[in-house]
Amino acid sequence: MGSPTAGLAARTDARHTMIELTHVSQHYVDNQGALTHAVRDVSLQIASGEIFGIIGRSGAGKSTLVRSLNLLHRPSSGTVHVAGRELTALSPDALREARHEIGMIFQHFNLLSSRTVYGNVALPLELAGQSRTQIREAVEPLLELVGLAAQRDRYPSQLSGGQKQRVGIARALASRPKVLLSDEATSALDPETTRAILDLLRKINRELGLTIVLITHQMQVVKQICDRVAVMDAGRVIELGSVLDVFRTPQHDVTRALIGDVIAHELPSGILERLRKQELGAARLLRLAFTGDEVDRPLLSEAVRRFDLDFSILHGQVDEVQGQPFGSLTILTRASPATIAEASAFLAEHGVSTEDLTAQLLPAPSGSSSGASAPHLTLLRGDAVPLATEALNRVA
Ligand SMILES: Nc1ncnc2c1ncn2[C@@H]1O[C@H](COP(=O)(O)OP(=O)(O)OP(=O)(O)O)[C@@H](O)[C@H]1O
Ligand SMILES: [Mg+2]
Repeated sequence: MGSPTAGLAARTDARHTMIELTHVSQHYVDNQGALTHAVRDVSLQIASGEIFGIIGRSGAGKSTLVRSLNLLHRPSSGTVHVAGRELTALSPDALREARHEIGMIFQHFNLLSSRTVYGNVALPLELAGQSRTQIREAVEPLLELVGLAAQRDRYPSQLSGGQKQRVGIARALASRPKVLLSDEATSALDPETTRAILDLLRKINRELGLTIVLITHQMQVVKQICDRVAVMDAGRVIELGSVLDVFRTPQHDVTRALIGDVIAHELPSGILERLRKQELGAARLLRLAFTGDEVDRPLLSEAVRRFDLDFSILHGQVDEVQGQPFGSLTILTRASPATIAEASAFLAEHGVSTEDLTAQLLPAPSGSSSGASAPHLTLLRGDAVPLATEALNRVA
């Protein structure tokens, strides 16, 4: 069978640089003559076989940057290399040819409503002048790959959003690209369909060795499938690193805010206000941040036993990023300063850092208000659950 996968996997075995942007800038002049610097001096390298995320708020310049990767927008300055070729130096004909190596999928799918699923996926191959047999041999395995073999004769209006995006993905893969660009491809989909489409992209990345550049404003998307991520703000890349590093040690407020959408970090103001009204005496408010590798060790119950530590869990969420625990628990304890110091040192040895938030218990500046929110315990490690139940009873 003419599998679209065979040649690709072999080509991308060795990790080398697939995409290189050097000092890329892009400015627009609108019809009133106003100048916008959409992308400012971006240099980065993306390795072959990598899933690279680009995240940022609306207007940060993400779409502009990704469109410079296939020269849909020619950058105002800087150079773009893809698969060893400098795209910015190619003639129009050579560029058309080079673009076959770069597939793209979009938020709104961009399918032709008059063509069936099969017809949409076949389109780029028809345009390239391939024979019916060649097209069938390429399209059928692709429909199989994206899970749409049974829907091949349906029209876009007869498909769900997730199915339309699968058609978009199959069509983007038809010309056997080395790189797949995805601009908010899951933004129009519900969370469950988003997960399924991201799983499909991960499968394509692994099975075909395809390099994927994925633009999103959702940290959840980055968390689920990206290897590395660049954070953009006002046209610049302000932060770049492995997803785990960026989650653990975000350097910018923009990044922290984006991570906060995925993993709750701050104590909800409702809990804080309730605590402020209580007589807490010498109680300390502590945040335990899980950033270690000891996923299976019952660290909290160990700390409780060793140091005779008593505490209530007020709020928290511990999740996994790239297979590593990540998150925080905020606790209230009446343990002595010496016990807290010992327990903190023990936890620190095992990758759990302790931050003292007791100052937050001081009365809020007058005029501040907040909506009352319930204690939010999204995910707790098994060993902490009985404590959490008790804590919730005590705080309530
Ligand atoms: N064709 C254009 N002409 C003028 N300005 C533009 C044009 N396209 C984009 N811009 C401006 O460039 C900046 C970056 O836009 P871009 O579409 O790259 O942002 P984005 O990060 O993709 O945002 P979103 O998340 O909303 O899609 C914005 O200020 C936008 O208004
Ligand atoms: Mg955009």
